[in-house]
Amino acid sequence: MNLTLKIWRQKNSQAEGQMVEYKVTDISEHMSFLEMMDVLNEQLVNKGEEPVAFDHDCREGICGMCSMFINGEAHGPDRGVTTCQLHMRMFNDGDTIYIEPFRAKAFPVIKDLVVDRTAFERIQQAGGYISVNTSGNTQDANATLISKEDADLSMDAATCIGCGACVATCKNASAMLFVGAKVSQYALLPQGQIEASERVQNMVKQMDEEGFGNCTNTGACEVECPKGISLENIARMNRELIKASV
Ligand code: SF4
Ligand code: FES
Repeated sequence: MNLTLKIWRQKNSQAEGQMVEYKVTDISEHMSFLEMMDVLNEQLVNKGEEPVAFDHDCREGICGMCSMFINGEAHGPDRGVTTCQLHMRMFNDGDTIYIEPFRAKAFPVIKDLVVDRTAFERIQQAGGYISVNTSGNTQDANATLISKEDADLSMDAATCIGCGACVATCKNASAMLFVGAKVSQYALLPQGQIEASERVQNMVKQMDEEGFGNCTNTGACEVECPKGISLENIARMNRELIKASV
């Protein structure tokens, strides 16, 4: 495949960015999107030009680093996959592909396609943990019975990889799908009850302080989430917040 790429280039957080056009040739349909980006960067390096900066780590859909807005969609046109799992067979020979960073006030651009998502880490630090007694008289984990349904729902919520696609997709740049998932994974389990009230209040407070917008039930976040995190988690977070505040 031969492709035209229009990529957002921005030297640093202070600089003005712009879309720059590049051509890539002989791209295999079996390549991942990031491998296609590697081909481009190799070309740029060989020409003595600055390669395009983009985040990546695991390249297997686990770490949540590969944040790219491709043709107007977070993680591109496929469903249930991250950018690193997106294959070039989703595109056609001769296509023009627009590649931008995830955009949100709380995710400032660091360089090119790399954004600062440490706001998510600060939200996690505000409450995304449990206290465990490790003093020697710890209860066997299997002694705490958990219903299959709650275990499954908690596990589903825990699959959130913190990629930020929900924020980038939401017209309000809301982080409620992410925070809803993080609150839910603990709220559904007995182990999460000790700090339940503080957790939801502190995480929501931190989310607001970071400058994320509110949820207006558009549902776009759920559609673009690579892990299929359900809107039910936002409803559960809201219920937990009401419970905590009374
Ligand atoms: S809820 Fe989905 S889109 Fe949002 S951070 Fe988690 S995995 Fe990514
Ligand atoms: S590089 Fe880790 S999820 Fe894409």
